[in-house]
Amino acid sequence: MSRSFDTLMATRPVILAPLEGYSDAVFRRLCRSLGAELCVTEFVNVENLLHDCRRAKRKMTLAPDDRPTAIQIYGANPDTLEEAARIAEAASPSYIDLNCGCWVPKIAGRGAGAGWLRDPEKMVEMAARIVRAVSLPVTVKTRIGWGPESDMPIVDLARRLEDVGVRALTIHCRTAKMGHTGAADWTWAQRAREVVSIPVIVNGDVTSAEAAERALNETGCEGVMIGRRAIQHPWIFAEARALLDRGVVLPPPDRKERIRVAREHLIATVAEWGERFGVPVMRRSYAGYFAGLPDLAELRAALNACPTLEGTLAILDDADHSPYAPSFAQTPSFA
Ligand SMILES: Cc1cc2nc3c(=O)[nH]c(=O)nc-3n(C[C@H](O)[C@H](O)[C@H](O)COP(=O)(O)O)c2cc1C
Repeated sequence: MSRSFDTLMATRPVILAPLEGYSDAVFRRLCRSLGAELCVTEFVNVENLLHDCRRAKRKMTLAPDDRPTAIQIYGANPDTLEEAARIAEAASPSYIDLNCGCWVPKIAGRGAGAGWLRDPEKMVEMAARIVRAVSLPVTVKTRIGWGPESDMPIVDLARRLEDVGVRALTIHCRTAKMGHTGAADWTWAQRAREVVSIPVIVNGDVTSAEAAERALNETGCEGVMIGRRAIQHPWIFAEARALLDRGVVLPPPDRKERIRVAREHLIATVAEWGERFGVPVMRRSYAGYFAGLPDLAELRAALNACPTLEGTLAILDDADHSPYAPSFAQTPSFA
């Protein structure tokens, strides 16, 4: 039985952000195994979904053990968003998240994603419609405003979204125009938090367990969402959980653990996507996974040159037994 939305939000969840091209079923499973309480799918383009696009449908398919997971949808048209929300509901996610934060010009420029921030009135109407159309909780992920020229609408917007039945709000504390540049200003999440009683999730620049704790404490938010740092260092979920729940600072993952996670991620990616895509796509993860290892450069060079699963696993197994791995003589004896 999956936990209710309210129970989930009461756990001060550390959430895997929706990450197009990354937060697929495989990565969600990995992050969950490392302590992420809640995951969000990559955003699903509602037009593609309604045109039966295989990739869009696949993004919405949730395995029975892929819970709790929210499905995120995006689009510029309330009619198609409503239809897509109904389809999303049939996949039984924990909730449906409306993307009102994507700044990419080809998306925001046509009114989808952060494009909704140019007309907060319309955004609220659209959200109200989706809330009425489905029985699952509906949440919104957005930014603090469109650009520096506008006064930030987020505080008033938070209040109005709550009024129409939106059950939680994730705030990426940048403007749309900032993209991923500049620093996220968490004070906006705090200001929004103060005017609503629905959960607010703070997002942007949470790059360590300590930052997760600080973001929660400084803003009073119910949850914290992690994007880019999770891609490089999925252990951040376990680290944040240990700090939040027990005040414990976990040591960084050792060589064996780093190789174990890379191995597991690789095998699952190839099982899901096939060897031809899975082996090369994993190469983008190794710099983060093996950060700090003394033989990082050699290891990456070998992995980048290897086209097969078998060969890649052999390199990882070798690396596990390399002279850099601690030998029995180096490990402390508990005898
Ligand atoms: C590669 C990549 C893909 C992303 N895809 C999505 C997406 O599908 N939906 C969404 O709402 N945000 C998406 N984002 C934004 C993140 O969810 C998050 O809001 C942003 O990266 C800020 O958080 P961070 O500083 O923890 O990375 C994406 C960001 C990156 C870097």
